[in-house]
Amino acid sequence: MKGIILHGGHGTRLRPLTHTGPKQLLPIANKPMSQFCLESMIDAGIRDIAIIIGGTGSSKVKEHYGNGEKFGVKITYVEQDYPKGIAHAIRLCKDFVNNEKFLVFLGDNIIQKSIAEYSRNFEKSDDAASILLCEVDNPSRFGIADVKDGQILNIMEKPKDPPSNLAVTGIYFLTPRIFDVIDRLKPSWRNEFEITDALHMLLKENNKITYNMITDYWKDTGTPEDIIHANGAILEKMTPYFLGKKESNVTIEGKVMVGEGTIIKSGSKIIGPVIIGKNCIIESNTVIGSNTSIGNNSRVALCNISNSIVMEGCNIECNIKIKNSIIAYNSAITYDQTEQNEKIFLLGEGTRITI
Ligand code: G1P
Repeated sequence: MKGIILHGGHGTRLRPLTHTGPKQLLPIANKPMSQFCLESMIDAGIRDIAIIIGGTGSSKVKEHYGNGEKFGVKITYVEQDYPKGIAHAIRLCKDFVNNEKFLVFLGDNIIQKSIAEYSRNFEKSDDAASILLCEVDNPSRFGIADVKDGQILNIMEKPKDPPSNLAVTGIYFLTPRIFDVIDRLKPSWRNEFEITDALHMLLKENNKITYNMITDYWKDTGTPEDIIHANGAILEKMTPYFLGKKESNVTIEGKVMVGEGTIIKSGSKIIGPVIIGKNCIIESNTVIGSNTSIGNNSRVALCNISNSIVMEGCNIECNIKIKNSIIAYNSAITYDQTEQNEKIFLLGEGTRITI
């Protein structure tokens, strides 16, 4: 079975974080989110993987994944010149797929459960496609499946009046039969070739489409809030390790993952789940609270930070509480002790600050 990871798009709802790179490379628990998809595929025994790139910073995707050797897989890059939809992106991989069954993973979808068993079952089956469904509170935001007695009746994209709350997650087990259907698709109201329309057509032409339910964590990380939520959920499931050093009088509670070369200075408190990367300095009297990731080579001093993502190379030194925040690579938040009431900003386009 082959694998396809969708890594394109502009990630507009995640600006300014996506001005400089694709959203699928934003880190969750200090790892690019699309790497979770790659690892799921590896876990399912898939080694031949195409990554579809296009949009902002696609060269960064190639830089990170290279030819796949460091992950033990073979990676082929397929360029999508313009975001014309998931079905269009899949159609670009017809030659790559070459008559095998394949798994498509949207690079911004995070799940915790292994898909290895679904993959094995699909491999053995005569299904034309198999999808994973998950109950959601806001079904109008997703592709939705209408299901009765274990059979899928209809699949539709973002219905105004959803017949169920079963979202079609961005993990699709497919056969090459989908290509013929995609070739006959018309663009949707949002001018995209929708995978949901392709699946619906496949179903209506009497092909068998099965489904499994995801009952544990699944998130489509479209917004900053989604990313912060996924970060906390992934941290919660990690196995703790401590490869750094800590001075005396440091409090550590809950699950904490600390990388090599990191030092936690006296009087600090780390309340898990928390991940701190390599070569970081957590200065004295600093609190790193639950659901927080600190990227490699960052320094945090004096503040109390929780439910947040701080990416690599940041310097945060200020006597404030920071929560629900995403602070991108190489940013600095410092304070001028002489200016109590004045703030100094150097902000990139589209930055959001709440004071
Ligand atoms: C896409 C699909 C939708 C699916 C969702 C899952 O939506 O079109 O059917 O439910 O991914 O992440 P989009 O992210 O394009 O809004």
